[in-house]
Amino acid sequence: MRWLITGSGGQLGQCLVGSLEARPGQTLVGAFDHSTLDIARPGALANLLAKGGADAPDIVVNAAAFTAVDRCEEEAERAQRVNADAPGWLAEDCWSAGLAYVHVSTDYVFSGVASEPYAEDAPVGPRTAYGRSKAEGERRVMEAHPKALVVRTSWLFGPGQNFVAAILRQAQRRGQGLESGPLRVVSDQCGCPTYAGDLAEGILELAGVDPDREPMGEGRGQAPIGIFHLANRGKTTWFDFARAILDETGYGEIELEPTKTSDLGLPAERPAWSVLGCRRAAELGVNLRPWREALVAYLNSAAGIALQEEQG
Ligand SMILES: NC(=O)c1ccc[n+]([C@@H]2O[C@H](COP(=O)([O-])OP(=O)(O)OC[C@H]3O[C@@H](n4cnc5c(N)ncnc54)[C@H](OP(=O)(O)O)[C@@H]3O)[C@@H](O)[C@H]2O)c1
Repeated sequence: MRWLITGSGGQLGQCLVGSLEARPGQTLVGAFDHSTLDIARPGALANLLAKGGADAPDIVVNAAAFTAVDRCEEEAERAQRVNADAPGWLAEDCWSAGLAYVHVSTDYVFSGVASEPYAEDAPVGPRTAYGRSKAEGERRVMEAHPKALVVRTSWLFGPGQNFVAAILRQAQRRGQGLESGPLRVVSDQCGCPTYAGDLAEGILELAGVDPDREPMGEGRGQAPIGIFHLANRGKTTWFDFARAILDETGYGEIELEPTKTSDLGLPAERPAWSVLGCRRAAELGVNLRPWREALVAYLNSAAGIALQEEQG
């Protein structure tokens, strides 16, 4: 299959490019970051392909998004354009050209008031500008492209800025004596940390690297159409995730202090419960490993090693 990736400069985008380059039989016809393809213009993809900016793909994966959750509160119009309008335009372009389309969404489409893993068909109820824009993006995508695959994920870490990097930076500052006292981390949010590398692999599996699969999604009998959840297995809190990061990177002696989300005074509300149930993907044989194993894999990847060397 011939793949085209938008948002290739982000955490997931970089991992998708890496996974595709490593898979024999798969062709990456184009990987476009924000500077080479701004998705927030109607017809951006159609124009790119019409001008010969890339060979024709079979499938397009949109990994681009405006992901700064707090900034989305202040820049709600931008959130709407990048996270809702743009995925819809990409989906329209793909549908018109007969291309398969994969869109990526988030646990933030849910209210966060739950105690069981969210099923794929659980009602959405976003409480932030980011979540509302992403929920609208899902709707627009499925309306414009009835065979689109929408993959929701949560608590991503990979090459780029993320929670793992932030905790390591804090640990390093304490190690250097630049800061002291316990590291305060919220303990009242529960979710599924997910390695962007595993998510990329899962998306390729789900979207069908099976060469017999038709680009429009019908090759396997059970075509992966509609909403799927993909997250590393198990759940934890940011507090326990921080503990694991410190333990795995040789900073086990650093003291952690639990704190409440409300104490942080952030512009955007955080869902207390972000646990995604991944039943539909599991039924197709796509399962991501437990989050702690994924953390170790990330720390041992080129990006994870660079991060630790940077810190050290
Ligand atoms: N990060 C998480 O914890 C998390 C959790 C759940 C779901 N998700 C979803 O997973 C997907 C991937 O997230 P990620 O963590 O890989 O995000 P990321 O690292 O923030 O990457 C997003 C990329 O999109 C680019 N972008 C923004 N606006 C664009 C535009 N108008 N045109 C083209 N590119 C644009 C950004 O470029 P600039 O930086 O130059 O703007 C950035 O490189 C997103 O759909 C996100 O909503 C993320």
